[in-house]
Amino acid sequence: MRALLLESVHPDAVELLRARGCEVQLVERAYDEAELIAALTGVQLLGIRSKTDVTAAVLAQASDLLAIGAFCIGTNQIDLAAAGARGVAVFNAPFSNTRSVVELAIAEIIALTRRLTQKNTDMHAGVWDKSAAGAHEIRGRRLGIVGYGNIGAQLSVLAEALGMAVSFYDTADKLALGNARRCGSLDELLETSDIVTLHVDGRPSNKDIFGEEQFARMRPGSLFLNLSRGFVVDHHALRQHIESGHVAGAAVDVFPTEPKGRGDEFVSELRGLPNVILTPHIGGSTEEAQADIGSFVATKLALYAQEGATTLSVNLPPVALPQQPGTHRVLHIHRNTPGVLAAVNGILADHGVNIEGQLLATRGEIGYLLTDIGLDYSDDVVKMMREMSQTIRLRVLS
Ligand SMILES: NC(=O)c1ccc[n+]([C@@H]2O[C@H](COP(=O)([O-])OP(=O)(O)OC[C@H]3O[C@@H](n4cnc5c(N)ncnc54)[C@H](O)[C@@H]3O)[C@@H](O)[C@H]2O)c1
Repeated sequence: MRALLLESVHPDAVELLRARGCEVQLVERAYDEAELIAALTGVQLLGIRSKTDVTAAVLAQASDLLAIGAFCIGTNQIDLAAAGARGVAVFNAPFSNTRSVVELAIAEIIALTRRLTQKNTDMHAGVWDKSAAGAHEIRGRRLGIVGYGNIGAQLSVLAEALGMAVSFYDTADKLALGNARRCGSLDELLETSDIVTLHVDGRPSNKDIFGEEQFARMRPGSLFLNLSRGFVVDHHALRQHIESGHVAGAAVDVFPTEPKGRGDEFVSELRGLPNVILTPHIGGSTEEAQADIGSFVATKLALYAQEGATTLSVNLPPVALPQQPGTHRVLHIHRNTPGVLAAVNGILADHGVNIEGQLLATRGEIGYLLTDIGLDYSDDVVKMMREMSQTIRLRVLS
């Protein structure tokens, strides 16, 4: 196996793939389309971050490529449909930075509740304002979490451990952890929480779900955090409620439009407001999260290469099966049409090949069949399966 890892992916990924017998080429920067096409000959595993686009044209010419690892959260830079249609598995790291986001939220909740940013600004200006006015403990305060997914639920547990009371509102049916209280509506959460924090996902219908009406419903003197997506919140409304004092403070990490690169000016209506913490989309940016992304995605690539496991693949059906000793494994990615399983098993039966283990899963137009067979089989079996009209890709692990 040869792996090409672009964009300085974490050293843990390199180490892990090398330990599994992979020959790894490391490149610090992103590749453009032409460079990528040229570099992928003889490469089975490709690792990228957010700046390398894997287009349909790249995939059309990458006949050796088995899998792509996005060493980040998003996969917009990859043409997932084209990858699926060519039987190329794509993996990412959807959970690796969730703890980092939770810890930043906790830090900000305490900082805002103690008005630390104001005290810090005053001190740097030479002002010694030793007073308890407006500073509170978070113990006993009610945190309202909107979006109780990977991040929201972890935050719930840590906040309770710090003595907070927790409410949450989620559009999906979620299990309440610890003593967290589920709210029947967003309004109920807004009217009863001292601190409101958004952790919803980026589905298009979440655009502008939090504006004038929602801020007005929050309790006077409450705090607001958004570490989810920028387009969810109306920043003009937030500014007005901070200026009026109705919202006592806010922490915002994500913005409707963000500067393209380091050094570009950050333009926002929220600049210059008191007790408002602004951070440049760094909720998930820690060295620990980067290391976790490195080992998480590299493990997924290695397990796919060596065992055919597609657990948590972004585009292929999820299949993982412990392999029986004394078998060969046939990995068959195919177009999902009726009769594929029967046809494969017909070929095996006609040739007297014993099936020791088998698992099929489908996802949209793609099917993935994993079959462990006894060692006594002829090349004809593999040839016939490969020549089936539905076959996209066939691999045998011996
Ligand atoms: N600031 C950062 O650097 C950073 C880092 C990682 C993730 N994020 C963002 O944090 C958010 C949460 O991430 P996650 O991993 O917990 O996602 P997740 O998919 O696990 O959870 C999202 C939850 O929000 C719920 N939801 C969606 N729309 C809702 C709505 N309108 N009202 C109430 N609930 C709603 C979903 O049902 C789900 O339970 C995502 O938007 C993600 O992009 C930001």
